[in-house]
Amino acid sequence: MFFDIAKETIETIFEKDPAAKSKREVIFCYPGFHAITLHYFAHKLWLSKHLFLARFVSHFSRVLTGIEIHPGATLGRKLFIDHGMGVVIGETAIVGDDVVIYQGVTLGAGPEARMGSATRNLKRHPTLGNGVVVGSGAEIQGDITVGDGSRIASGSIILKDVPPNSVVVGVPGRIVRKDGIKVENPDPEAEAIKRLNEKIATLEKTVAALKSDMARPEALMSITTPVRNGEEPEKVKVGHSESGSNGNDKSNSGTLGAPMDDPIEIYLHGAGI
Ligand SMILES: CC(C)(COP(=O)(O)OP(=O)(O)OC[C@H]1O[C@@H](n2cnc3c(N)ncnc32)[C@H](O)[C@@H]1OP(=O)(O)O)[C@@H](O)C(=O)NCCC(=O)NCCS
Repeated sequence: MFFDIAKETIETIFEKDPAAKSKREVIFCYPGFHAITLHYFAHKLWLSKHLFLARFVSHFSRVLTGIEIHPGATLGRKLFIDHGMGVVIGETAIVGDDVVIYQGVTLGAGPEARMGSATRNLKRHPTLGNGVVVGSGAEIQGDITVGDGSRIASGSIILKDVPPNSVVVGVPGRIVRKDGIKVENPDPEAEAIKRLNEKIATLEKTVAALKSDMARPEALMSITTPVRNGEEPEKVKVGHSESGSNGNDKSNSGTLGAPMDDPIEIYLHGAGI
């Protein structure tokens, strides 16, 4: 059985990693291969209640590979852990078949971790379905399920179930593709910046209108008109022109009327994401 799994893992790595030049290289130089094969023994020891030995093998594997897989974790067939450094797979995690995990990925306990020993016998870690890809540095936290065929982008943080065949990106993770079809799901951070930008644009218009009104003596009069004998005060009129130019040239402008080389416009159009 061990040799079947080792052979299958070598073939999987060789097939999935274009950088692998020979099977000998995979056997001697791939930490993902070492971690998976050592986990085979650690998990066997764990299941047969040799808990310390199991932990010791897992720790040795971590020292050797930089990949920490708890001996209690259940790993599927044909798993490919690429590079691997910094990967953490928790005790109750379940990983399906044909999964790819890049460096720095955490399959963690999420909020349950803070509750300490109270959650010792509970399932606290994620379940990854078959064919899942988890990009480098992604965090998947808590007893949640990532459905078959889903892909998690690098650097994402996932705290809720992910339906099958989805592409999830960002912090917090949001679905941008489902069954190969693009899903309109705006980045909340970009949306927040967009709202702030809208407010700034409105304020700029108001200030520009005020400045231009203040330059006219009759406007000044209307502002300084005193209140007489309990009459309603005259309303101060500002913003005499709705166009309310703030002096910027609006040709070649972006979504919010700002020039396209405005860093916020560039950000809103996806740069740097
Ligand atoms: C995320 C991923 C799984 C999706 O792959 P895919 O299904 O081919 O989809 P795409 O790459 O076209 O990405 C889909 C969308 O997510 C965006 N996206 C991809 N990665 C992202 C990330 N890390 N953060 C935010 N958005 C991301 C893309 O820009 C694209 O946006 P668009 O629809 O506006 O064009 C893929 O980019 C991936 O495998 N990433 C991990 C790679 C990795 O960790 N490599 C380490 C090698 S050392």
